[in-house]
Amino acid sequence: MNGFPLSPVPFPDPVPQPAPAWILWGLLVFTFMLHLLAMNFVVGGSVIGAVTARLGRRAGRPHHMALVRWLTDAMPIALAATITFGVAPLLFLQVLYGRLFFTSSVLMGWFWFAVVPLVMVAYYGTYLLAFKSASLGHWGSWIRWLTIFIFLVIGFIFANNMSLMLRPDLFRAIYADGGTAHGNFGDPTLWPRYLHLMLAAVAIGGMWVSGYGLICRPRRPEFGEWAMRYGARWFSGVTAVNLFMGFWFLFSLPGETMARFMGPVPVATFVLGLGIFAGMTTMTLMFLAANAPRPSPLVGCGIGGLLVTVVCMVLVRDQVRRGALATMNFEPVQWVEPQWFNIILFLVLLVAGTLTVVWMVRALVLAGRPGTEDGPVP
Ligand code: HEM
Repeated sequence: MNGFPLSPVPFPDPVPQPAPAWILWGLLVFTFMLHLLAMNFVVGGSVIGAVTARLGRRAGRPHHMALVRWLTDAMPIALAATITFGVAPLLFLQVLYGRLFFTSSVLMGWFWFAVVPLVMVAYYGTYLLAFKSASLGHWGSWIRWLTIFIFLVIGFIFANNMSLMLRPDLFRAIYADGGTAHGNFGDPTLWPRYLHLMLAAVAIGGMWVSGYGLICRPRRPEFGEWAMRYGARWFSGVTAVNLFMGFWFLFSLPGETMARFMGPVPVATFVLGLGIFAGMTTMTLMFLAANAPRPSPLVGCGIGGLLVTVVCMVLVRDQVRRGALATMNFEPVQWVEPQWFNIILFLVLLVAGTLTVVWMVRALVLAGRPGTEDGPVP
């Protein structure tokens, strides 16, 4: 016996975990949620911004132009938040699932490397739009759509990696195949997973718009109410389509993983059930808000419902990962030597950093920019 694994899962590194698994898991889930909310502003806000810019070209639509201006101005900051909030879950993902995640990243090769230059190019795009829109002319519109395309490609690369790391049974065959860039294109979960995430991003982008309207309402009642209704239309319309994507994703899962949600693992069944219920309730509230004379209370409740939905869906995603890895006999590392000083330092900085970001977002939303109402829309 030479110890060569029968299981397709690579051996763990001979180093202990720096914290108990439940802390690492909690931080992975929490920081991923922050990444998701910022990423949804970036992806959803860009799509809504581009469509609204087109609609706003018709005369007599100052609200469209004011909204595009705000989305465009906020985009570089939101992208910075997406990246920063992406680094944190990346760390915890590596500690908990490194031997799977590193292997899938190596197999993806150039596709995975491409994330960094793509993010940089998109970053320049958002900066140009935010600070040079007056001099861009018709190029502005091209840059807008190009950045959206890049965001969608980055999301696709992530969806490939996150689904490939759950398929250690494929690792050897892909490696033996040679080549320097592989995706997980043959996996039946890839497209429903990706489309479900991207449509959710657009819907949540709509909720960001409604939330912005809610905050603006006391100072600019007409614009505030318009933005609430406009964002609510995006949220409810896109979510109605996304319900089908969610069920497609569920039914595309391997039998054993899907079965987890049908009763044998109560927490999985509970978070999926509550997530669907909260999602449908939020969709209904936002549908009503889109047509209500006073949308504020409905939007307030919708934001609450959405937060419950996002928490549940992130936990559902975690259950998908657990279920898939259980079928591969993945064993988490049991050797733990906690580095308490570092853990506490991280927690303190995380709380301070999060509060600072909340303060910055509030200041950004409340400040606006002089002249934004009539600024040029690229
Ligand atoms: C605009 C840029 C980005 C977009 C559109 C984006 C999009 C996504 C999407 C769609 C997922 C979910 C994939 C899936 O589960 O199938 C994801 C996960 C993730 N992203 Fe991003 N991302 C971006 C930038 C980044 C950056 C720069 C980092 C790291 C520095 C990052 C770190 C992560 C991590 C670690 C996960 C997985 C977390 C987990 O599985 O628990 N992202 N991202």
